[in-house]
Order: sequence, then structure tokens, then C-alpha cells
Amino acid sequence: MAKPRASFICEDCGARHQQWSGQCGACGAWNSIIEHRPPRAAASSASVAAVPLGAVEDDAAVRRSTGLSEFDRVLGGGLVDGALILIGGDPGIGKSTLVLRAAAALGTDRRPVLYVAAEESPQQVRMRARRMGLESSAIHVYPDTEVGGALAEAERLRAGLVVVDSIQTVRVEGLAAAPGSVSQVREATVQIMQFARASQTPVMLVGHVTKEGTVAGPRTLEHIVDTVLYLEGDDFHAQRLLRSVKNRFGPTFEVAVFEMRGDGLHEVPNPSALFLAERDARAPGSAVAVPLEGTRPLVVEIQALTAPTAYALPKRLATGFDLNRLHMLLAVLGRRAGVKLGQHDVYVNVVGGLRLREPAVDLAVAVAIASSARDQAPGPQVAAIGELGLSGELRSVPSAAVRVREAERLGFTRCLVPTASARNGATEGLGAANLAEALALALP
Ligand code: TYD
Ligand code: MG
Repeated sequence: MAKPRASFICEDCGARHQQWSGQCGACGAWNSIIEHRPPRAAASSASVAAVPLGAVEDDAAVRRSTGLSEFDRVLGGGLVDGALILIGGDPGIGKSTLVLRAAAALGTDRRPVLYVAAEESPQQVRMRARRMGLESSAIHVYPDTEVGGALAEAERLRAGLVVVDSIQTVRVEGLAAAPGSVSQVREATVQIMQFARASQTPVMLVGHVTKEGTVAGPRTLEHIVDTVLYLEGDDFHAQRLLRSVKNRFGPTFEVAVFEMRGDGLHEVPNPSALFLAERDARAPGSAVAVPLEGTRPLVVEIQALTAPTAYALPKRLATGFDLNRLHMLLAVLGRRAGVKLGQHDVYVNVVGGLRLREPAVDLAVAVAIASSARDQAPGPQVAAIGELGLSGELRSVPSAAVRVREAERLGFTRCLVPTASARNGATEGLGAANLAEALALALP
């Protein structure tokens, strides 16, 4: 091995240290460093022979369907044998529901699914399955938390898929640390990966991410596993986004949209229509953005409300949008477009619980704010695409044509786009060079 194996690990951030200290130099946490003892010594002599690259067998990459075509798409076209997939997300978001649904689709009598119920009782898993209308006999529930036993059982059953729910609650025999600690989670994942590779069995790991990041998080595992998917959403909306942030077998940043209903997660084949469903096009303060999630464009409503402030310091609130970016847009609106809101509270909301991180939605946010400030609605067929610079200039965005096409598909015939994007013929649309021009078109 090239690197000497450090034996102290920060429980918070997973950084490795050569020696123990009271504070982690990497993340600054106190009393978080623990000694890491690998349970077995690594073999010192080569037990397998290296293979010339040209002689390596081609990966046939048989892909199996999870029964949810959107899930398959995020995986890169289905499940690959021997792949280790981490599905992370906040507690209660629907991870168990998603993997159970896939388990029911993938299990066959000859190659059943082993569901390691390390967090819930088999009864709870059964209840969830019943609620979802899945009465599969091809799912075997393993009611213990010890990894070695679970993997032996998977081998005995010749499982076609192993689900570990969750990686934070399993434990490795002979390792002193508590379940959920970095060393347990890491060691369990390494053992599971060895099993997946050797037996060519795909494995799905469920992992919780806490907002504070205090629990030994799946983040420390991202480099071990092949694929990392995050299930996102919030408690108040039924929409769930499954996003790939790493994928050795397919594209990253691909997104699938699901809806949580009384009987499990359902695919949303036309998410834009869902995000626009309750829009009142005549209301001031509403604008339409076209963010790109992965390679897929979404058409999303953005709402803004401006109101005279009762505070010394006006209030700014953004839901689903970066607050600092909102502050910047307000400054640009004030200085470059004459929309002065120094004495106004400003609220911005991305409808449907989506979190937009892309600068390409700047213009739509600015239009929504200006629309509320002027108490004038943009035309019902207007969508706004573009990033705003500090001089108020409208900057071109990637894949402008794809966005415009999606907006047009949903009936938005007047798409505001940066002139730079319109000029090079990349797309149709109403070109605007800067914020003032765009507002003149959107709010004539
Ligand atoms: P769950 O899959 O248990 O979440 P996680 O494994 O990520 O912690 O789902 C949790 C929530 O989803 C729970 O509050 C109940 C709700 N739910 C439904 O609305 N419909 C369903 O069919 C199921 C199974 C759960
Ligand atoms: Mg769960």
C-alpha cells in the first residue's frame, strides 16, 4: 500500500490523523477523534495476479430495471451487477420506501432480495410493503445488524440484490466503536463492497444525512461506493427529487422526480406540469424559471412578495433559493433597474419545495420581485432565463435551447433569454442584453 494507514479518525468529518488530539485540525470539532483499529491485518503477499489491460474482460454491463424507469434513468439505465449504491437523505424522506419498491421489482424466486432490516423490525418492513401494495415473497428480511452474518445469508440465498437499511445501524463483529461511528460505517461499507465485487451482487445502502452532519454521515463513504444518490424534498410537499452526485456507471447530476402518496413513491413523468399546477398567472410577483436539473430542464414557478417594512432592517427571506444571492439580486435591481426596495421586506419562494442552485434562475427571481414591487403580473406566457451580473448584464446560460424548448412545450411562448444565447442562433426567444431590457419585455 502506498500510504501508511493512519489510525486516528475524526468522527465528525472523517479526516485521518497520525496522532490523537483534542481538536480535529480539519473541521475544528472537539473531542471527536477516535482511534481506528482495523479488525484484521491486511494480507501482505499478492494472492491475485494482475491482468494486462487489453486482456481485461469487457464489462457486459447487464442492467436490470428497478421497476421505476425514473430510478433506472438516474442509475444510468438500470442496476449494474456488483455495483454498490448509496442512497442518502434526511430521515423520513422516503429512502426505505424507494429501496423497498426496487427490491420488490428486482427479487425473483431464484434470486431473491436480502433486505437487512438493521433499523426497523421485520414487522415494520412488512407493514410498509403492505401499505405499498407489495406482497413479494422474493424479499427476505434479515432481522439482525451484524454485517458478516447478513452477507453470509446473502450468499446462501444467492441473493440478486442486497439492501442494507441503514448503513448507520449495522455493525462489524469485533470492532469496538459504536454503530453509526465513522469507523463502524466505513468498515462495514468496505466489507460490503468486497462482497459485492466478489459475488457480483448489487447492493443498495441506505444512509441518513442529518442537517447538522453530526452522525457519521454517508459523506465519508462517497469515495468508497460506486454511486451516490440523494433523495431530497421537504416535509410539507409530496415531491421528492432523486439526484445522482456520483456515478461510476452513468451520468451524474441526473434527477428523477417522484411523488410520495399514501401508497408509496410514484414516478412523475411530467414534473414541470406538477410544479406549475397551482400557478395563478395573473398574480403579480409570480415568474417562471427554467432550471436544469442534470440534463433535464424543469419549468418552475418562482414567487416574490415585497411589502413596506415595519423593521429598522428590512426582512429578506428565501425558500429554495440562496439568501446571499437574493441580496445581490436586490442590489442589482436597485442600482441597474430602478427597483428600489431598501424600505421593503422581500420574500422569495420556489414553488414545490425545489431548491434552485443555478445562477440561470436569477432573471426569473428578479422578474418576480420587480413584478411584485410594481404590482403588475408578467404576461401569462412569459418565462425568464438568464444569469445576472453585477452590472445588470444578462449572461448566457448552458443549454439555453433545451430550456426554451421545455418552456415552449408547456405553453410559454415568450421566453426571455440573454442576447448572447439568442444571437448565436442557439435558441429562439426574446433576447435581452441586461436586466432593464428584460424587465421592459416582461413587464411592459
Ligand atoms: P420512509 O421510507 O420510512 O423514510 P426514510 O427511510 O427515508 O426514513 O418514509 C417515511 C415517510 O413517508 C413517513 O413519514 C410516511 C411516509 N409514507 C407515505 O406517505 N406513503 C407510503 O406509502 C409510505 C411507505 C410512507
Ligand atoms: Mg428508513
